Amino acid sequence: MQPIPPLDPKQYQLEELLTARGIDLDWLNDEYGGPYSAPNVARWSIVEATKAIPVHYASAVADHPDVVRWVAELKAGALERQARRGSAVATADRGRSLILLGPTGTGKTHQAYGAVRDLAITGVSARWVMTTAPDMYAALRPRHGVDSEAEFRRYRSAPVLLVDDLGASKVTEFTEEINFRLINHRYERQLPTMFTSNALPKELTERLGERVTSRLGQMCQRVTIGGQDRRRRSAA
Ligand SMILES: Nc1ncnc2c1ncn2[C@@H]1O[C@H](COP(=O)(O)OP(=O)(O)OP(=O)(O)O)[C@@H](O)[C@H]1O
Ligand SMILES: [Mg+2]
Repeated sequence: MQPIPPLDPKQYQLEELLTARGIDLDWLNDEYGGPYSAPNVARWSIVEATKAIPVHYASAVADHPDVVRWVAELKAGALERQARRGSAVATADRGRSLILLGPTGTGKTHQAYGAVRDLAITGVSARWVMTTAPDMYAALRPRHGVDSEAEFRRYRSAPVLLVDDLGASKVTEFTEEINFRLINHRYERQLPTMFTSNALPKELTERLGERVTSRLGQMCQRVTIGGQDRRRRSAA
């Protein structure tokens, strides 16, 4: 991990997030602990998250208490393993998953990217792969010159994975197989995954099948987000 210089909180849209979590900018920008110190890991994680998060969600702060708690649990698990193994850096790569359910426009993706940013500022290393389910299926379609199995392993083995819009695509044999292989692999290894879906729980079973939803039910904390479509509200 390379040393990361102090961050401008405005450039990285950190002000609201730091205030919400009671984190001092002086802690984040402390340069004396070396590259493996929690503040340096946090700066590195924020820089990486900022590159990967779509601009629309660049300032997202998760405000759902269950989402905030899930991030805190990932952090606590990472610190516990670090203390047990004596590793230099605490790494979030094991733990419960989270599924955010709710109708269109209620803020699931906002909460999801908020959680990514939230984990970043804790100083625990989290190497995310972030995708929507339809983009992932498109990236995995067998085609000439692409090793789609290698690409699949990138998703399957991501230390932390975000799959936005699960169950949004047309069900085919191909998507069924990807869903089962992905979710079964992550289920067996307790790899933390954040899913979002605007399907109702019953529809999710119809779209994903019982073997997938049974595993999701056991591996995930379920968070339901209600309310109006926020896009309509902001258009009004
Ligand atoms: N807590 C929040 N604070 C401010 N803006 C929010 C919040 N939650 C959501 N938004 C905004 O509301 C709009 C809808 O949110 P978002 O895209 O997260 O919804 P969604 O549930 O993922 O919708 P879909 O099911 O269509 O994917 C976006 O413009 C988002 O930036
Ligand atoms: Mg969304």
